[in-house]
Amino acid sequence: MSEKEELNTYFEALRKREFSRLDKDKQVYLDFTGGNLYPQSLLDKHFDFLKNNTLGNPHSSNPSSLLATKKVESARAKVLSFFNAEDYYCIFTSNASGALQIVGENYPFNDNSCFLLTSDNHNSVNGIREYCKERGGKYQYTTINYEDLHINEAELLEKVSEYNHFENKLFAYPAQSNVSGVKHDLKYIQLLQDKGWDVLLDAAAFVPTSKLDLQAVKPNFVCLSFYKMFGYPTGLGCLLVRKDSFSKLNKHWFAGGTVSFVAVNYDGYYLVNNHERFENGTLNYLDIPAIELGLDFIEEIGLTQINKRVMGLTEYLVNNLLALHHENGKPLVKVFGPHTLENHGSNIIVNFFDPNEQAYPFEYLQVLSNKENISIRSGCFCNPGIDEINSCMTTDELSSFFSSRDHRSYKDMVSYLGKMRGAIRISIGIPTIEADLDILLNFSKALLNKEVPQEALEMVGAFNQ
Ligand SMILES: Cc1ncc(COP(=O)(O)O)c(C=O)c1O
Repeated sequence: MSEKEELNTYFEALRKREFSRLDKDKQVYLDFTGGNLYPQSLLDKHFDFLKNNTLGNPHSSNPSSLLATKKVESARAKVLSFFNAEDYYCIFTSNASGALQIVGENYPFNDNSCFLLTSDNHNSVNGIREYCKERGGKYQYTTINYEDLHINEAELLEKVSEYNHFENKLFAYPAQSNVSGVKHDLKYIQLLQDKGWDVLLDAAAFVPTSKLDLQAVKPNFVCLSFYKMFGYPTGLGCLLVRKDSFSKLNKHWFAGGTVSFVAVNYDGYYLVNNHERFENGTLNYLDIPAIELGLDFIEEIGLTQINKRVMGLTEYLVNNLLALHHENGKPLVKVFGPHTLENHGSNIIVNFFDPNEQAYPFEYLQVLSNKENISIRSGCFCNPGIDEINSCMTTDELSSFFSSRDHRSYKDMVSYLGKMRGAIRISIGIPTIEADLDILLNFSKALLNKEVPQEALEMVGAFNQ
């Protein structure tokens, strides 16, 4: 058997064992970057644990509390060992956005600080600029190449030297774009740190199918969400903070669980001197034990094997989509970004075009694919930067649009600028099999040689972005 056949046999069996609900319900799930699917055994093991144990609010000395504390701490240790992160604190948060908010709120932004970020970033990273602005700091975007959607290195280095005089400098970028699937080079971590910058790595889209080794690269801050890795539980993520960067985060208040001592008859308190400082109130101690089981599940399969599998399927999908042409020779599909899957993950964005090169509005395709029980995602995926590049929207156009009206909507923008935004994202994960992709390919083939109908054009702006 070839390696590919072996992988196929292994993952087809895994699908039957752990994800049979997909086939039972005839679901074609291709939104793994949005959220992963949980394996059946993870639920079984976790619910068995809950059914057979008594857990109480942690940080007390009674037996139920001690068990909860023990399970939370063993999940924390598992996260650190999974990412080879012994030099880091693991702060449990409600999701990657919660982790990013901790950095935004507590990083020492002031009039002597700078926040540099790539235009390919999730809105939860983009939003940190508001903390920076509010405290008088300078924020600046660095661009992505139109052709391959990778970081424009020359521009990045230029901006780094331009802003190097600031005292506190934070650079933020995604290890993998949640839109294009491009894996940005992790070399920028060390490169910027050598120039005195702190680096915030958004690993949310990268870690579900790729190994992040925090001994090999050492960003100051890393954020992720666990449901994107193994589907269950939702509502949990973490911020990994390099121990030697911990004191950079200045917490401005205290809450239950974050202090070692507080007085009320005197204005004094001591914050806990570790991860607990940022874990406000009661942790999600019933769900946190499932993180350990989820990471075990990934380790049992192996990230190398997972990566090979999802990239093999991504290649199959891309090749077959690009092979689709109308009778007049025009391509049906445009895949945005690089034409090679090197340094790429298993999510792609595409647009569909009719024989006259008129783009199918994503709103229309979303409605059509929904009818076929195909879960794909459309819009701009909380990452407007990539969308602005793909739709060739300039700063001048956006500035003129924003300054021309008070109340704005996407539909308004389409009529004002005459440009459509958005695309279709297809993402592949552990449970995906070739048959899912064949259903999507057949769905795509049904569009061949057909003009975009008028009703489709009327749907532009039908959804929130
Ligand atoms: C790259 C990236 N960063 C951050 C986030 C935010 O994650 P969450 O919504 O779980 O907070 C996402 C979610 O899609 C993402 O893909």
